[in-house]
Amino acid sequence: MFKIKTLNKIAAEGLNLMEDNYQLVDEENVDGILLRSYKMHDMDLPDTLDAVGRAGAGVNNIPIDKCSEKGVVVFNTPGANANGVKELVIAGLLLASRDIVGAVKWADTLCEKGDEVPKMVEAGKSNFAGPEIKGKTLGVIGLGAIGVLVANVAKSLGMKVLGYDPFISIDSAWNLSRSIRKSDSLEDLLAQADYVTLHVPLIDATKGMINKEKIECMKDQVRILNFSRAGLCHEDDLAEALASGKVARYVTDFPNEKTLHMSNVICIPHLGASTPESEVNCAVMAVRQLMDYMDNGNITNS
Ligand code: MLT
Repeated sequence: MFKIKTLNKIAAEGLNLMEDNYQLVDEENVDGILLRSYKMHDMDLPDTLDAVGRAGAGVNNIPIDKCSEKGVVVFNTPGANANGVKELVIAGLLLASRDIVGAVKWADTLCEKGDEVPKMVEAGKSNFAGPEIKGKTLGVIGLGAIGVLVANVAKSLGMKVLGYDPFISIDSAWNLSRSIRKSDSLEDLLAQADYVTLHVPLIDATKGMINKEKIECMKDQVRILNFSRAGLCHEDDLAEALASGKVARYVTDFPNEKTLHMSNVICIPHLGASTPESEVNCAVMAVRQLMDYMDNGNITNS
């Protein structure tokens, strides 16, 4: 009997796939762990542990080195929540362009103005005008499952899409999406983009990659979207660029204390993958991977 512990809520559609030789338990000495965003870094790994399954793409909440030293296999579910994240990124693209959040907050303040409302709307609405995205250039950094889906939708909305990936060859990404024009370098992409969207994992090589030097390469009034991980942006440098107006707006799924309070920052509380569809897809994939390893020794997506 394999003992499995969940550290976050995992969709029943996945857990119900577990066969009779699996038991969900709430104790320390388990064979497998399933989790979503729980941070495992301070946890003592039990000697019994064989595998960790992350129902999500990023694995920065899991101590990979510690797991490797103990022979614990770590799985993730790349692509399983890509559609959910993509849809929120597209919403973010529109929020980065038009001041929808500011406008809605302002409209809420009018609710006690009675028949004055139409007059006040006419007088105030010009404060919330913003550009259309059609014809503008979107720079997509990271051409994995999410980056490619975002590129395709952006293209269908009339944007020009430039792509760059520090790890995947642009040619292999281009085979997945003909929407993307190749950028020769990150600097080349940054110099041309009106909007920059980040879709790389948070690892040592990408930590703080959007820093003062890279922001200086960008167009004035660039708009940045970060639905990948907070640590990709150097928060002090970003805060400075937001304060000066160099970066016109920053929309992120990862609120950070340095920028949260700024009026040109829109923070969403890490909701990219929070759709029933993504939660089910991730849970099903994570449980299947875990069982395939426990039962047959097969390692997929680790
Ligand atoms: C991911 O890494 O795929 C997301 O952060 C998943 C999540 O929100 O749980």
